[in-house]
Amino acid sequence: MARLAVLGATGRTGQEIVRRALDAGHEVTALVRRPEALPVRDASLTVVVGDARDAEVIAAVSEGRDAVIASLGRPESGRTKDQIDDSQPVDVCEVSTRHLLEAAGRGLRRIVLMSTHGAGSSNDGSPYVVKLRDMVGNRVVDKDRMEQVLLEAETDVVWTVIRNPYIYEGPLGTPHAVHEKIVLDETSRITYADLATFAIGEALRPQYPNTFLTITEPLTGSAS
Ligand SMILES: NC(=O)c1ccc[n+]([C@@H]2O[C@H](COP(=O)([O-])OP(=O)(O)OC[C@H]3O[C@@H](n4cnc5c(N)ncnc54)[C@H](OP(=O)(O)O)[C@@H]3O)[C@@H](O)[C@H]2O)c1
Repeated sequence: MARLAVLGATGRTGQEIVRRALDAGHEVTALVRRPEALPVRDASLTVVVGDARDAEVIAAVSEGRDAVIASLGRPESGRTKDQIDDSQPVDVCEVSTRHLLEAAGRGLRRIVLMSTHGAGSSNDGSPYVVKLRDMVGNRVVDKDRMEQVLLEAETDVVWTVIRNPYIYEGPLGTPHAVHEKIVLDETSRITYADLATFAIGEALRPQYPNTFLTITEPLTGSAS
């Protein structure tokens, strides 16, 4: 049994991580802004309400945890895609990562962070990445900065950054692979179930320490 904290626990991936971690017998602390949006109740679940950009909140949810999994994304709580103003700056991933590294100095040993394929060194100029970066705007810039914070950090914490392709509803165990370098196309994807299971695995026993990776099912399009 491990003690895990999940940031972004009301998100689609975050909920999947929370459910799967509880099912596997782990103790979970879930950081949320909207507790009503997390429809999970369990004796091993503690829900903390707060903003991931708040250093005291991150210190509190990290304390005594074996690992933190951050699945932070869209900045505007409870809004649909059409209601989000993509021109606003986004900094939740960058700022929360800085706070997690401070928490690492106080004992946290492992962090697993969700990013986007197309951020950081995966910004490879491919048609997929150019289109993606245009589509998600400031949200991928926040992931760039998050990744840069890790590259510049002097820390003993073991981190894994998962650069996601399109995530979709599908079964656990859909064939997929992990790549440190890959050119994606629009057929790249991963199921929420496989992504959440992989993230929990990295939090428990990192197979890819201090690595930026992309997880995807086999490509079937032009770049395969
Ligand atoms: N979905 C995809 O196809 C896709 C593709 C590529 C990369 N990604 C990345 O993969 C990860 C998971 O994606 P997803 O679609 O599951 O995410 P999501 O559903 O958009 O969830 C994002 C989560 O972040 C939380 N959040 C945002 N700002 C916060 C703040 N300041 N304080 C606390 N919580 C905050 C949201 O809380 P609220 O519920 O309160 O808003 C929500 O729980 C994200 O990093 C995303 O950028 C996703």
